[in-house]
Amino acid sequence: MTTESFSDLAASRHSVRDFLPDPVPDELLDAILDDARQAPSWSNTRPFMLALATEERADRLRGAYVAEFDKTLSVQHRERGAMARLVLTGNLPDGDYKVWAPYPSDLKPHQVAVAKGLYDHLGIAREDHEARDAANRRNCEAFGAPVMGFVLIHKGLMPFAALDAGIMLQTLFLSAKAHGVDSCPLGILAAWRGPLDAEFEIPDDYRLITGFALGYASGEPVNDFRAERRPVRLAAPRS
Ligand SMILES: Cc1cc2nc3c(=O)[nH]c(=O)nc-3n(C[C@H](O)[C@H](O)[C@H](O)COP(=O)(O)O)c2cc1C
Repeated sequence: MTTESFSDLAASRHSVRDFLPDPVPDELLDAILDDARQAPSWSNTRPFMLALATEERADRLRGAYVAEFDKTLSVQHRERGAMARLVLTGNLPDGDYKVWAPYPSDLKPHQVAVAKGLYDHLGIAREDHEARDAANRRNCEAFGAPVMGFVLIHKGLMPFAALDAGIMLQTLFLSAKAHGVDSCPLGILAAWRGPLDAEFEIPDDYRLITGFALGYASGEPVNDFRAERRPVRLAAPRS
């Protein structure tokens, strides 16, 4: 492989947010998983595991995640007392990590920029709750992807387990792209554990850190959106 071809591959991967229903053949999925095992990990512990859902299982998960999302609508719409009501009704998201925690102030502008860029691209106004809810539901449905994946990390090896899972996941995404398969990480799915536990036996020590989607990009305009790719930040050397 040439340097150019790796650079092209890395640049061509992007988050796809509308998938065709076409399934990913099992042999392709196996080849992608085989490449993912080439990733390095802390003392070679590979402190992560994946859960993969296709067909009816993926469809059940889509329905379950949308139902969970809909329970949080009053919070999404920033209604007064919504969070308290969610607690009282036992509908607080049951994820292992706080997916909706506030962003650090120095990082917040980047989150706002990408969200605004995406919504502008889709022509969705800030106050258009209906359209925003619909976009979030599509997110919960893995944007219609035929493969819904879940990344679980060992709670006894944090933070290295999260690091190792990330390295593995990008290896998987790049392999997928090289095999003509598109992807999108789906952090939103980590807001809830219930739907995943209803479909998979997850060992006690494992925590859900993100979901992801695999499949084939549709021609919908949402897939023309490109996020800014800032250079990796370098610390200033002391003089
Ligand atoms: C851990 C993780 C979780 C993410 N979750 C979501 C998500 O739930 N929905 C979404 O549309 N994009 C999600 N993204 C995609 C990011 O918004 C995207 O990677 C970033 O804007 C850069 O764009 P690119 O992937 O096209 O280069 C997630 C990315 C990561 C790494």
